[in-house]
This record gives sequence, structure tokens and C-alpha cells, in this order.
Amino acid sequence: MGGVLACLRGWHPALALAELKALLPETTTTATAVDRWWWLEGEQASQRHDVLGMSSGLQCFLKDAVVTSTDGLLPADWLEGMRTSLLAHPVSGSVAVRAWKQGGKIPSWSLSSLAGELGGLLNDMGCTIDLDTPDHVLALIGDGPSASLACGWMEGDGQAAFSSGQRRAGERPFFKPVSLDPRLARLAVNLASGPANRGPVVDPMTGTGGFLIEASLSGRACMGLDIHSEMVVGATMNLAWAHDDDVPSESSVKRGDATRLEDVLPDAWLGKVAGFVLDPPYGRNSHGSMDSDQLLEAAMTSAHAVACRDAGFVLILPMHPIMPHPMAPLPLDSDINLLNGEWKELLTMVERCGWKPVSVHAERVHRSLSRLILHAKYAPRD
Ligand SMILES: C[S@@+](CC[C@H](N)C(=O)[O-])C[C@H]1O[C@@H](n2cnc3c(N)ncnc32)[C@H](O)[C@@H]1O
Repeated sequence: MGGVLACLRGWHPALALAELKALLPETTTTATAVDRWWWLEGEQASQRHDVLGMSSGLQCFLKDAVVTSTDGLLPADWLEGMRTSLLAHPVSGSVAVRAWKQGGKIPSWSLSSLAGELGGLLNDMGCTIDLDTPDHVLALIGDGPSASLACGWMEGDGQAAFSSGQRRAGERPFFKPVSLDPRLARLAVNLASGPANRGPVVDPMTGTGGFLIEASLSGRACMGLDIHSEMVVGATMNLAWAHDDDVPSESSVKRGDATRLEDVLPDAWLGKVAGFVLDPPYGRNSHGSMDSDQLLEAAMTSAHAVACRDAGFVLILPMHPIMPHPMAPLPLDSDINLLNGEWKELLTMVERCGWKPVSVHAERVHRSLSRLILHAKYAPRD
């Protein structure tokens, strides 16, 4: 069998890959024929364990994995190859086989009968089969569009969707239409801040606290600010609700101005903030005399002043949809049609504030609205 394969969820594989790279910054990722499967090299088992506990876009890891194109291959030959691989990488303890497909079926290949055959192979090798509480799960994934199979020992639960439990935005005690859904909020926090031990996370305009909930649940020190007391009270309520009234001491919401972060953040955080997640208000007159462009520039400048030198920034803005909806990252020099303002001016402004744009993705909201997810990294200023 081969190396470690990261299997991404289907919601937005390109964003999920960007998140994975942020969470495993020292790891090399290599493409396969499937945009949801990536070989990893250089990571530790403990890092994979941490990533599984906090990622939004990762479905599972497969250890000692094999990826095979079924083109021109017979199931019996594939099984013979798997037998050799399994014999070369035996496991101790009980086992089960779990099979699922993504993106449709592979014509002429039955995953359930292959799973049965794999179970037979493992049995012949002397493994105890335990379908309820196995020590090891051999996962078999069939990718319809590429007619490929991935098979390996699964780490993680392989759930197809990020589990946000009961904390969907609409379920929270304080809800506004601006509330971000947990899946995107978690991904943005991870993309901006990287591994959990890097330093605190700040949401300078926290609204109902969607980013803050995900940052605190993923074990990070974090603070959300809002200029409006109503939002501060509401986000505080939401944070308490997400933690069953047991909010970690290093997570908090404060009333404060995103353009003056150094006045509000604890002294110990100054120059140490690892990640910023920002979903600013749109339109004119959102902040007294400042229009939304000035507000954004002042907030990004203020963030730069309190950031650590490898900090990340994720900015979310509304944009007109691109058809068909792009799943790959958008080239930074493409002509992006923002709902408010000009893309090229936005990029120049971001750079002026000391942030270097790294990637930009679009997420579909509905037929006439998408979201832009811009990831930028700290750049030293003159
Ligand atoms: C689009 S909402 C954020 C929504 C949030 N992501 C959520 O999940 O609820 C923007 C927030 O920015 C706040 N805001 C506007 N100007 C601000 C400023 N100068 N400093 C801090 N917060 C500000 C608004 O009160 C509003 O709650």
C-alpha cells in the first residue's frame, strides 16, 4: 500500500484543500486524478489527529492507501493487488470494511461486492471481523467521475458532511440574516489561523458570533468585537449556548471598534494574533461617517498592527455569481464582479494595509449571490 491519502468532502474541494494546507503548513500535498484525494508527505500522526478534530472540509485520512483507476482493470485483478498490499501492511485487532461512493457509480463495479470480498481477504489473513466496534476500518471509496478507487485504513469517521450538531445559525438564541453557517465559519477560521497552537484568533466585526463559536470550539483563544451593544449581548449569548454555558476563559466578546484593535485586545495579544476572520457590513453609511471601503481599510490596517508575522486574514465579501460555479480557486488576476466596489481596487487596498493576497475562492449562496473568500497573509510593511 502507498502513503497517506487525505479525502476531502464534496462541498467545496478547493476550499477544503486550502484549509488542509493551512492546518498542515509543513506537509507536501500531491494531486491524484480526483480533486477530493490528495497524497500527503511529511506530516505526523498526531497532526492528522488534530486536523481531524477541527477541519470543516476533510472527510477522513486513509493510511497505507492505494488509489487505482478502474479503466481496463478487472475486479479480480484489483482484489489481487489489494491482497498483496494488505499482506504487506497487516494490522492487529478487529477490522471492518466500509464502502461508499462519491459523485455517482463506477459502471460495472459493485462497491458492496468488493467490500464483501475485502472482508473475506481480511478473514483469510486471520483478522477478526467486528462490524460494530472494530479497531480498524478499511475504507473503500469509489469516485464515479474518474472511475477510480481509493482503499486504505481509515482515520476519522468518514462523515460526508461537517457535523455542526445543533449549532446551525438558525438554531442559535440570537439570529440575524447575516449569520454565517458553521461549515464556512469553521473553514475560514482554520484557513486564517492555521494550526491551533499558533496564537489567538480575532473576529473584528463579530455580529452574531459565528466565527467566534467555531474558533472557540476548535480550541483556540479568540475574541470577537462589535461596535453595537446589541450584537455584543447576542454574540455572548450564542457563545454561551454553543458551550452549554461553560465558555473557555480565553474566548470572549467585547464591545469595540474594529479600526482600533490595539485599544481593545489584551496587551499580551498585541503582535501575537495568528488569524483574523472578517465578514464586514456592506453598503454605505454602515459606520457613521466612514463608508464600507474606508471601514474595511481601517480594520485591515488595525489588524496588521496587532498581527504576528505569519498571521493570516480571511475576508468574506458578497459577489455576483460566476456561471458555471467555479470549484477551483479563482486566479487573483481574474475579473471578479464584487457586489460593491472594484476587485482590482480591493486587491490594491488589501496590499496597502500590509496583507498579501494568497488565494481567492467563490462559494455559491443562491442563484443570484455568491461569496468571495479571500485569504491573505501578513506582509512586512516599509
Ligand atoms: C456582516 S455582520 C457580521 C456577521 C457575522 N459574521 C455573523 O456570523 O453573524 C458585520 C458586523 O460588523 C459590525 N460593525 C460595523 N462596524 C464596526 C466597527 N467599526 N467595529 C466593530 N464592529 C463593527 C456590525 O455591527 C455587524 O454586526
